[in-house]
Formats: sequence, structure tokens, C-alpha cells
Amino acid sequence: MSTERIPIIDVSPLDGWNEVACRHVADELCEAACTVGFFYVRNHGVSRVQLDEVFSAARNFFAAPEEKKRSVAISPFHRGWLEIGATKMAGSAASDVKESFVWGLDIPPDDPDFLAGGRLLAPNQWPLFLPEMRAQLMAYFQSTQLCGQRLLRAFATGLGVRSDYFLTHVDKPVSRGALIYYPPRSSEPDVAEFGAAPHSDFGTLTLLAQDEVGGLQVKDKSGVWIDADPIEGTFVVNVGDLLARWSNGRFESTPHRVVNPLGQERYSVAMFVDPNWDSVVEPVTLAGECAKHKPVGCVDYIMDRYDEAFAYRNKEEPPDGGAEELNRAH
Ligand code: OGA
Ligand code: NI
Repeated sequence: MSTERIPIIDVSPLDGWNEVACRHVADELCEAACTVGFFYVRNHGVSRVQLDEVFSAARNFFAAPEEKKRSVAISPFHRGWLEIGATKMAGSAASDVKESFVWGLDIPPDDPDFLAGGRLLAPNQWPLFLPEMRAQLMAYFQSTQLCGQRLLRAFATGLGVRSDYFLTHVDKPVSRGALIYYPPRSSEPDVAEFGAAPHSDFGTLTLLAQDEVGGLQVKDKSGVWIDADPIEGTFVVNVGDLLARWSNGRFESTPHRVVNPLGQERYSVAMFVDPNWDSVVEPVTLAGECAKHKPVGCVDYIMDRYDEAFAYRNKEEPPDGGAEELNRAH
């Protein structure tokens, strides 16, 4: 067992009417981000009905025959279906044993920012065989985006910078959602084979809804993998590499992995909440402090990570880095 636990934070005060309560939550969130890098949020504002809808969309989608799923195979702009074997964490010996469906802001093909090379902004690929999925997933995108934005404002407040530091404008965020399916495994895990191999997330914040099966594990400071068990009514939230960098290294982007229990399939829905497509990530520096990183365009940063992690983007195999090398995802 670990001495370090993953805190559960009730974020309802972030609606802001009670400034003292709001500040208290902001401090709790910053404390969790600086230490564990992971926390659960309660009262996140996404309804049970919406969650049930996205999980049922996931079940229906992944249960469809392969040729139907192939009709929305991943686009060059990273929208659509990733089959088993398509995701391989940098330095990991084997591909993840999972399927995903990735979507983002629902923009048309003639969107000027997309045409101008916004890259992480791209039209979605909706399956014609599940016509209700588009509205369900976009409603979920909107409500999780709002939750993520409340958390980012709280982080800025907790760090003592202006509350819109991470969100100067949010008309076109490059956030992405992923429905994820982990098929049942029938044998003890091979050291090199995981539902999701150890990695840290690329972007700003990840909001994860998981079913009741369990299997997500978080690496604590002493190197022990601790279970992030499902807790009804919560999201598991973690800081990604980009927010760690943006916080000038104060926040932790903690490695995690998925080992689903023997013989059980598992579904999860990850929302990778990221800034506007044209945001520049400039580390938060407090009085007398130097920036530890140069400013970077959020899209450039995340795209570099994508190129490492997804087989369909890899022109060459990454060099063999050994299982414990820190992997980056999403
Ligand atoms: C991820 C991830 C965990 C899960 O997609 O980056 O860590 O439980 N997912 O699916
Ligand atoms: Ni992850």
C-alpha cells in the first residue's frame, strides 16, 4: 500500500458565489496538482444522464463489426477510430491493448483556422451507423470543457496569477475526447503488454470517467503503482505534461497505466482539456522566479507528442527506450 493517496475534491464551490470557499478549493486543487498530480473531482457538473449516454455510445460503437468501424478510421488529423495496435507509448515494447474513438470541437471542413493549418482543430468523423452519437458526444464535450475551464481558473487563482491565465480566450479549444475500450485479457499481463502502457498525458488536464471495472493505476513518488479505483459520481483528473510545463514545473504530470482485471472488459471516456488552438504556453513565474521553459505553441507541443505515440503517424520506430522510460500520451 502506498502512503500517498489520491485526494477527492468537491468542486461545487467553483461556481464562485462564495469567494472564500472557492479559494479554499483552488488551494486544495493546487496542492493535489503539486504533489500527486492526480485527484478525483466530485460535483463536476456533468449529469449522470450524459455520462450514461456516452458510455452506451461507446458500447454500441465498439460492438459494431470491424468494417463499420473502419468507415471512420482515424483521419490524418486524428479524428475517428484507432484499432487495437494503433497506440504505442514511446519506449514501450508492445502496443496498447485497446480501441479508441477520438473526437473534438465539431468544426466544418471549410473552417478557416483548420484550413490555415490549425492542425489539432479538424472535422470529426461521425459513424453513419450510430446517428445519435454526434449529439451525445458533443454535449459531453461541452460540459466537460466547462468543468475543465473551472479547474483551470481555479489553478490560476491558487497559483496567484490572474484567473484567466490559462484561458485568455477559448473560442476554439483543441480539447479532444476519447471513448476507450479495453478488451478482456485472458492471461496474467506480460510485462510488456498493457491496456495502456505507463505514460504521462501530453496536454493540459485529463478528465476521466471510468466504468465500475477498475484497472487504472498511478505511480506514486516511491515508484509503487496505486489503484485509482472507480468512485461513483467522480472524474479522475490528472495534470498533463503541458500544464506541468505551464506551471513552471510546480505541477506534476504523473505516470499512469491501465491493467484491467483478468477476464473483464473495460470502458472509459477520457476528455483531454486543452487551450485554444493559437495559445502560447508561457510558464507562470512568480516574483523573482525564472521561467524553466521557453514559450511554446500548444499545438506544436501536443503534435510532437502525437507523432511519437500513434503507429499510423510513425514513419520510423522510436528508439528502444526500455519499459520504465516515461511515456507520453494524448
Ligand atoms: C489515457 C489514459 C486511462 C483509462 O487515455 O491517457 O490514461 O483508464 N486512460 O482509460
Ligand atoms: Ni493517460
